[in-house]
Amino acid sequence: MKPMGPIPPGFTSDAEGRLLIGERTADQLVAEAGGTPLFVYDTRPIARQIDRFRAAMPEEIALHYAIKANSYAPLLSWIADKIDGFDVASAGELGRVAHLGLPISFAGPGKTDQQLETAIRAGVTINLESEGEAERALAIAATGSRPPRLAVRVNPPFALKGAGMKMGGLASQFGVDHDRAPALIRRLIEAGADWRGLHIFTGSQALQADALIEAQAATIALAADIAAQAGVSPPEVNLGGGFGIPYFPGDQSLDIEAIGSSLGRTLENRPKVLGDTRFAIELGRWIVGEAGVYLTRIVDRKQSRGETFLVTDGGLQHMLAASGNFGQLLRRNYPVAIANRFGADAQETATITGCLCTPLDLLAHDVALPRAEPGDLVAIFCAGAYGLSASPQEFLSQPRAREMLV
Ligand SMILES: Cc1ncc(COP(=O)(O)O)c(C=O)c1O
Repeated sequence: MKPMGPIPPGFTSDAEGRLLIGERTADQLVAEAGGTPLFVYDTRPIARQIDRFRAAMPEEIALHYAIKANSYAPLLSWIADKIDGFDVASAGELGRVAHLGLPISFAGPGKTDQQLETAIRAGVTINLESEGEAERALAIAATGSRPPRLAVRVNPPFALKGAGMKMGGLASQFGVDHDRAPALIRRLIEAGADWRGLHIFTGSQALQADALIEAQAATIALAADIAAQAGVSPPEVNLGGGFGIPYFPGDQSLDIEAIGSSLGRTLENRPKVLGDTRFAIELGRWIVGEAGVYLTRIVDRKQSRGETFLVTDGGLQHMLAASGNFGQLLRRNYPVAIANRFGADAQETATITGCLCTPLDLLAHDVALPRAEPGDLVAIFCAGAYGLSASPQEFLSQPRAREMLV
C-alpha cells in the first residue's frame, strides 16, 4: 500500500458519509452539473486564503492572482473584487480578465508582436523577458498614441530554495539576466516608455517559510541594487510568489504568518531607492489549489494479477498533475477518496485509473479505500490549481470536463 497526501481542511461528510462540498453532496453537485467528470471549486476556502493573506502580510503588499492556476470564467469574476490585480501569461488569458477592471500584468516568454500589440492597446503592464522583446514592444508602441507600460522581468542570480519549480540562478528563457537589467531600464525610459518597475519570480510550490523569507529579502535587495545602478526608483516591484500547498504525505502547510512578519521588517528597513515603491505578490495555487475537487465516476472494477483496479470516466486529460506527469520526478498520490463513502473506513487497497489508453493514466496508485463499485464517485482533492488549465484535454477526444463554482 502507498500513502496519499493529506485531504485539505474543511471537507466533511453528511450523516450518510457522503462528501460535502460547499454544503452539498458530491452526488448532488454532479446531478446539477449534468454528469462527470466534474471540477467543483468551492469559494469558501478561496475566501479564507485571501483573508489569511491580508491578515498576515504587510498592508502595502498587493495581491495578484496568476490565472494560469485556474482561469474558469465564473471564478475569475468572483475573485476580481477580492484581489488587487491579475497576472496573465498569454493574450488568451488577457482576454479572460480584460473586462474585469483590475490592473493586469503579462509575463511569459515568446510574446508575439500581435500579443504585444493587444497588451499595449489594453494598457496592460508587460513584464519584458528580453532586450529583443523590449525593442519589439517599443517599435509597436511607436505606431500608437500612448506610451507602453513596460516592466523588466529579472532573471535573478538565485532561486527559491526547496521550490517544486525553481526559476532563477541559471541561464533561462525567463527574464533578463540581473546584471543587464539596469541598461535595459535606462533604454526603456530614454525611449519614452512608462517604465513600471521590476518583476522577479524565483519559483513555485515552496512549503518552507524560511526559504520564502530568504528569497523575498534577496529579491528586495536585488531590486534596490538594480534601481541604484539604473539611477531610478521603480514605481512597482513584483516579488513573485511561490507559496505552496500540501499535496503529498508529509507535506505541511506554509506558515504565511511568519513570512508576513518577516516581510514587514524587511520592508521597514528597505533601501531609500525603494522608499515609494509599491510591492505585489502574485499567487496561483496557494489561493485556489485546495478549493478544487475533481469528481470522476467509477466505470469498471477489475482484478489483475491480484490487484484491484477502479477505472473511471476521467483521467490525466483533466488532472495531469495527479497522474504525476506535470513536473514530478517521482509519482506520488494526491489525496483521494470515494466521495459517496467519505466517512467509511478503508477496507482494501486499490489503484484508480482514468480511461485513457496509456499506463501513465494513474489517478491513485495502491491506496487504502473503502470498497468501491462501478457508479461510485472518486474525489481527487487539491484540484483547484493546475487541473484543467494544465491538462491535455484534447488527448483521445474523451468528453470534456465540466466545471462548477459553489
Ligand atoms: C511568472 C509566474 N507567476 C505566477 C506563477 C504562479 O505560481 P503558483 O501557482 O505556484 O503560485 C507562475 C508559475 O509558474 C509563474 O511562472
